[in-house]
Amino acid sequence: MAETPSSSNNKRLAGKVAIITGGAGGIGEATARLFSDHGALMVVIADIQDELGRQVATSIGQDKCNYMHCDVTDEEQVKSLVERTVKDFGRLDIMFSNVGILGKSDQTILDLDLSGFDHLFAINVRGMATCVKHAARVMVEQRLRGSIVCTGSVAASHGGRRTDYSMSKHAVLGLVRSAGKQLGVHGIRVNCVSPYGLVTPMTLHEYNKGVAELESMYETDMSLKGASLKAKHVADAVLFLACNESEMVTGHDLLVDGGYRIQ
Ligand SMILES: NC(=O)c1ccc[n+]([C@@H]2O[C@H](COP(=O)([O-])OP(=O)(O)OC[C@H]3O[C@@H](n4cnc5c(N)ncnc54)[C@H](O)[C@@H]3O)[C@@H](O)[C@H]2O)c1
Repeated sequence: MAETPSSSNNKRLAGKVAIITGGAGGIGEATARLFSDHGALMVVIADIQDELGRQVATSIGQDKCNYMHCDVTDEEQVKSLVERTVKDFGRLDIMFSNVGILGKSDQTILDLDLSGFDHLFAINVRGMATCVKHAARVMVEQRLRGSIVCTGSVAASHGGRRTDYSMSKHAVLGLVRSAGKQLGVHGIRVNCVSPYGLVTPMTLHEYNKGVAELESMYETDMSLKGASLKAKHVADAVLFLACNESEMVTGHDLLVDGGYRIQ
């Protein structure tokens, strides 16, 4: 018999509580919408863009999605985000630690601006580790076989012109592999999604191009032709890693790159 949209197969996150950092736009927002479509009991969007974050939560539905302010560079805010989630919604099954920024310049090694480097690392590396730490602590406490997914990038496994960004994403892989090894004993999985370039507020702002122009720029480098990489494609990969269908997958870096990195 054909599946209906409300069948349990299409509710891969039924009863689960998830936090998505950087959920006010781009990949985080697409993932919040998909998690909610898949029956998540509650999706908590954490971001620093309060107005936008609240709008996204309201548009998903206040019974299914909640906005909380959290700057991932501040450990107290991350701890309190996780604690409030558990207090308000009873549990934490999924942490999608997704916040990341691009630096203001190319940051080639000869012109590396170290204050820009420190700022980027505070968000992309320290912030990422802080989110994994506090989510894992509460999952261990609650004896939940939780799933933690981090956002890497194709830049996590090859060099490029943005030294600090590439270094920060290599560090995300180190975090995922170390935490994955350490937390396996608790049944907690830690994985990473690594997209190639796609249109989001981050890249629109960075390249100052229209959507179609930016998409076609990225398409040039992908092996798969005839389709553009969208935030929804990345969200689909996150959903797989977050739900029980990937229950024996941990420490993995899932490329979502249209074949950009095929060797
Ligand atoms: N867009 C791409 O081409 C691309 C490719 C590979 C990897 N990524 C990665 O995907 C992730 C999401 O990127 P995106 O393209 O959706 O970007 P985006 O800028 O659209 O979304 C990132 C969100 O993070 C939030 N944020 C920034 N600093 C924060 C902080 N200190 N605390 C809390 N929230 C903060 C922003 O307000 C924003 O809503 C990043 O880790 C990025 O490195 C993006």
